[in-house]
Amino acid sequence: MSIKTTDYDIRDVKLADKGQLRVEWAERAMPVLRMIRERFAEERPLEGQRLSACLHVTTETANLAVALKAGGADVALCASNPLSTQDDVAAHLVRDHGIKVYAIKGEDHDVYYDHIRAALAHRPTITMDDGADLVGAIHMIALERFDDLAEPVRRWTVSLSGKERRSLVETVIGSTEETTTGVIRLRAMAKDKVLQFPVIAVNDSLTKHLFDNRYGTGQSTLDGILRATNILLAGSRLVVAGYGWCGRGVANRARGAGARVIITEVEPLKALEAVMDGFEVMPMAKAAQVGDVFVTVTGDTSVIREEHFRAMKDGAVVANSGHFNVEIDLERLAAISDGPPRVVRDFVQEYRVDGRRIFVLGEGRLINLAAAEGHPAAVMDMSFANQALAAEYLVDHGKKLDVAVHRTPDPIDRQIARLKLDSMAVAIDTLTEEQQRYLTSWDLGT
Ligand code: NAI
Repeated sequence: MSIKTTDYDIRDVKLADKGQLRVEWAERAMPVLRMIRERFAEERPLEGQRLSACLHVTTETANLAVALKAGGADVALCASNPLSTQDDVAAHLVRDHGIKVYAIKGEDHDVYYDHIRAALAHRPTITMDDGADLVGAIHMIALERFDDLAEPVRRWTVSLSGKERRSLVETVIGSTEETTTGVIRLRAMAKDKVLQFPVIAVNDSLTKHLFDNRYGTGQSTLDGILRATNILLAGSRLVVAGYGWCGRGVANRARGAGARVIITEVEPLKALEAVMDGFEVMPMAKAAQVGDVFVTVTGDTSVIREEHFRAMKDGAVVANSGHFNVEIDLERLAAISDGPPRVVRDFVQEYRVDGRRIFVLGEGRLINLAAAEGHPAAVMDMSFANQALAAEYLVDHGKKLDVAVHRTPDPIDRQIARLKLDSMAVAIDTLTEEQQRYLTSWDLGT
């Protein structure tokens, strides 16, 4: 049973002690966010702001929420995925920090959207998303497309007066977005000229996607697969669909563990890069016949489909680490399999197709969050430093920014990289005056 009050909806507040220890453990690996939190506590740059965040409720997110609160924000937090919530972390945030958390691991569709509704009812001045669910709902409300809202949000929205709905939209100064898929959705909104306020694409910061998507997703995706299955990677044929930032990470980590890695791609440049990085590249139709383990990280839909399932070997393991659970066509898999799937281990469902077994992990949702703990804190340190500084930037500059999708300003990106290096006790060189002149002129050195 979950605890339900208007101020939070979590599994069980009694889990808070364990959550506290785990959040503390993550904090030790987040020195950049710590420095920001300490400065925020002194300067209170977010004083008076109501901030609604729709993020994976993990130990790292807890440290971000605490930093935002230290900066003066009144924070509400809901989950950006029904399976990614760490219930002990949610309990700790509620009990020890007075943060309004609406998230329960395994919540169903209606509860998930009721939690989004609660985050909207917080009437945010700033929103933070990981996949654009909050921003998406606010825009459906702004455009009066109520029927496109999930039922719990729709019911609440239609109960508001027109004035209340307008004020909900107009109160938002701006928003931040954590992930590639969310940024794609937001750019589509800007292109269609429906975007209502400026958004900072935190994902596009170099200190985010170069590290979080690549090293974070790379390591934690394999961690999720291993925790769910305990398979041996060495010698297995592991197929990675998509050679973007996340795909590169997964492929390289898997190679390091001794897997024979195959890449599937749709972009010739990325495919070429994969070939020159030493991977085998082939279409999914061919990879399906030889792969032992499949991981989708494309941000695309139906990447593994009926014809691929039918071609797979007995015992194939299929997982997704892209943002939405649409990369593996589970509906078709269910339709073509003999009987309903059998749960054979935590996070492992066995389907039977043409007499062969196919194991789907984590119901096709982000496997690193469903079966493991998400990205290591050391990498989220930079992603969430970007989030915290982007929120501060929106408070200072949001009203003057164009209504568009912006990158995190370059100086913030560099500052985060510098702080991270400092925290690792890594020193670098500084340009001499002569070098600065040389690098900014065209008539020297000829
Ligand atoms: P990206 O844009 O760098 O890479 C995606 C790649 O997939 C591209 O190279 C694209 O050409 C390729 N692709 C698209 N459709 C394909 C298809 N049908 N078959 C094969 N390849 C295809 O994006 P990034 O940053 O790697 O993100 C990928 C997904 O992972 C997104 O949904 C993102 O939101 C999500 N993500 C998940 C994280 C996690 O914790 N699991 C962390 C960060 C991002």
